[in-house]
Amino acid sequence: MGNTSLAGRKILLGVSGSIAAYKTVFLTRLLVREGAEVRVIMTPSAAAFVSPLTFSTLSRNPTRHELMSESEWHNHVELGLWADLFVIVPATAHTLSGMAEGRCDNLLLAVYLSARCPVWVAPAMDLDMWSHPATRRNMARLVADGVRQIDVGDGELASGLSGPGRVAEPEALLEEIRHFLAPAPVFEGMEVLITAGPTREALDPVRFLTNHSSGKMGVALADEMARRGARVHLVLGPAAAAPCHPGVETIPVVSATEMMEAAATVFPRCRIAIFAAAVADYRPATTATGKIKKQGDSLSLELVKNPDIAASLGARKQKDQVLAGFALETDAGEEEARKKLKAKRLDLIVLNTLQDAGAGFGTDTNKVTFLTADNKTRRFGLKSKKEVAADIADELACLVQAAP
Ligand code: PMT
Repeated sequence: MGNTSLAGRKILLGVSGSIAAYKTVFLTRLLVREGAEVRVIMTPSAAAFVSPLTFSTLSRNPTRHELMSESEWHNHVELGLWADLFVIVPATAHTLSGMAEGRCDNLLLAVYLSARCPVWVAPAMDLDMWSHPATRRNMARLVADGVRQIDVGDGELASGLSGPGRVAEPEALLEEIRHFLAPAPVFEGMEVLITAGPTREALDPVRFLTNHSSGKMGVALADEMARRGARVHLVLGPAAAAPCHPGVETIPVVSATEMMEAAATVFPRCRIAIFAAAVADYRPATTATGKIKKQGDSLSLELVKNPDIAASLGARKQKDQVLAGFALETDAGEEEARKKLKAKRLDLIVLNTLQDAGAGFGTDTNKVTFLTADNKTRRFGLKSKKEVAADIADELACLVQAAP
């Protein structure tokens, strides 16, 4: 028996038509031994390489390969919602192109379009197909859409040629999946404060000033930190996003002042604080008790400064506390981010800029750069917010270890 580190995790494997499909048989076995619940879907041509029955037997779940079946016409939506992770292995050039174009002519592609979980592809093809500009273009498009590409191996290929294009080995994929879905409980026993979402600053009973934050980044962080053992206090502005881990206590707030109060209350007992909220820097000097009436061609509002939550708590930071903030900039912004890191006494600042497609507000993806107090810089490609949260958690684990 394996060590069941993936117990309760739902993994959907998508198999497309390549000789490398036989390796997915081994991966299925490894994942099941690790306690994961595995379901397999295949493209029609994959079934020419490995029988669906092989996958059904090993995964202990029926293998699906039909887009239309009388009893299960809607199963692509269910599968897309069911999975914690969708790994397409092997991913052929044909499947990559179908995904990049948003085609929907087989079950695997339909599930891809319905999936709300992170999607990974482990490509497998001949070296010339892999280096062809069309494949490079499709791969770049998928990465921009938030799909994670697992590195291809370099070596002997089924064609007899040698070079890049080999599918990742099952053991290496298992390690990646384990690292992503079953991280070590490094924050066990630690309390963590996270601010997230927007704030609303009321003008009158019907209007307010706010911003585009959806709360997705902060909520992904809350779930990720809780999965690694932390007791998370999520101070969340008005947002639709909600955490799903039971280790997260959500403290709903509306305005920056309320967010400040809630964060300041839990901060002293927290080992880590992450400021992911998009806090309004200013609020109306007064909030009208009745609806402000339309009058004249213009209206001037007087705004007063809101508390800077990260800076105020940074000023009260104890030696063993580790603080991380975000910097939202409209251009490259590393210089601005460094200034914020210093001014707010943060250990880490995560820069995201609105110039990068798929980064920042509202999206399920983000493209970030880490800047640390010890002057290190790490730049990342576009990833899902869940994956960004995992990278931030990894960095925080190192910072906590290094803290006195
Ligand atoms: O919520 P999503 O739609 O998923 O979008 C995510 C995000 C873009 C909101 C997030 O990734 C992000 O960048 N959050 C910080 C946004 C921001 O206000 O950045 P800033 O550069 O203005 O602020 C710098 C830091 O100070 C941030 O950690 C911020 O939380 C904090 N701050 C700022 C002002 C203030 N009054 N109080 C604060 O605590």
